[in-house]
Amino acid sequence: MTKKTIVVTGGAGFIGSNFVYYMLNKYPDYRIVCVDCLTYAGNLSTLKTALENPNFRFEKLNICDYDAIKNLFEEEKPDIVVNFAAESHVDRSIKNPDIFVKTNISGTQTLMDVCRELNVPRFHQVSTDEVYGDLPLDRPDLFFTEKTPVHASSPYSASKAGADLLVLAYYRTFNFPATISRCSNNYGPYHFPEKLIPLMIINALNDKPLPVYGDGKNVRDWLYVEDHCKAIDLIIHSNKLGEVYNVGGHNEMANIDIVKLILGKLKKPESLITFVEDRKGHDRRYAIDPTKIHDELGWLPETKFADGIEKTIDWYLNNKSWWEEIISGEYKNYYSKMYGEN
Ligand code: NAD
Ligand code: TYD
Repeated sequence: MTKKTIVVTGGAGFIGSNFVYYMLNKYPDYRIVCVDCLTYAGNLSTLKTALENPNFRFEKLNICDYDAIKNLFEEEKPDIVVNFAAESHVDRSIKNPDIFVKTNISGTQTLMDVCRELNVPRFHQVSTDEVYGDLPLDRPDLFFTEKTPVHASSPYSASKAGADLLVLAYYRTFNFPATISRCSNNYGPYHFPEKLIPLMIINALNDKPLPVYGDGKNVRDWLYVEDHCKAIDLIIHSNKLGEVYNVGGHNEMANIDIVKLILGKLKKPESLITFVEDRKGHDRRYAIDPTKIHDELGWLPETKFADGIEKTIDWYLNNKSWWEEIISGEYKNYYSKMYGEN
């Protein structure tokens, strides 16, 4: 494999950091340059082992800062830029949409403008299945394909959809060499405690109430984070440009079933479950049809949910200091504002 320099934006967050480790392990000759401005969701301790690798560089930069990004790219001459950097939590987007538009839309545009200016040969946008809106619960025969119209429900998904449209417009207008992946819900190590699976694991471990929105019947299509990393690896090493790929492993589960499964694994009582007010505009069901990425690039998910959730729970049990540091800091204020004094 020819040596490459890959810029990973948002590499101090959940999926970006898993991608950093995946790439450092798989391609020992590659240079991985992480760009992250370390918002509440970015954590340098996540990258502790990567920082010891001479092929890894970390730069604390905002993707909206054109000059700083341009200086870095001039120096590093990336072969590929993979954009994970984003505001990623639906509940926060309902409270404060502004930063979602800035980072997710303007940040993506800024990165693409620098890439165009410097003729970076390849750009990949990490998007989400949430851009398609939702599916009804009573139509299990329906799935999101790449042809499903974009129909976002939350400020988060609308901002991701806006970025996707810009990427496709840059491809059409400027022949900008880009691809997009739209993945379903990920789970695994380094998942920030505000999201469903880590939140429920951590609350259960601390014998705190588990807040389930609405009736708990909303369905998500869960994929182990490493399978998502493998999909992105395949896309960026393919010769496909201007394409969108849906990524998902046909693993639909209702929230309440996930919560009960976690309680069962941790031997905690179901009486910890507390039904709370529903999320505004709450999407009912996400379900990905991954036929295109399978047929064109040979991608298939490798980790079954039963194994992935086991590995994930073990990771949270074995890495208490990672999440204890987070939940004892600024996150405490977020939690009490969001869920009351639980
Ligand atoms: P995350 O919130 O855990 O991490 C986001 C990272 O981006 C953080 O490290 C943060 O510091 C950084 N960041 C935020 N704003 C930035 C800015 N302006 N400049 C530089 N860095 C900035 O998110 P995640 O769950 O790892 O998601 C990564 C990407 O994958 C996002 O684009 C998200 O939309 C997409 N995605 C996530 C999921 C999921 O289930 N989590 C599923 C599909 C797609
Ligand atoms: P989340 O992890 O925020 O991902 P997304 O909304 O992007 O799919 O939420 C997953 C599902 O879990 C979603 O239907 C909302 C629900 N949920 C709860 O029921 N309680 C919670 O405390 C959280 C954070 C989420």
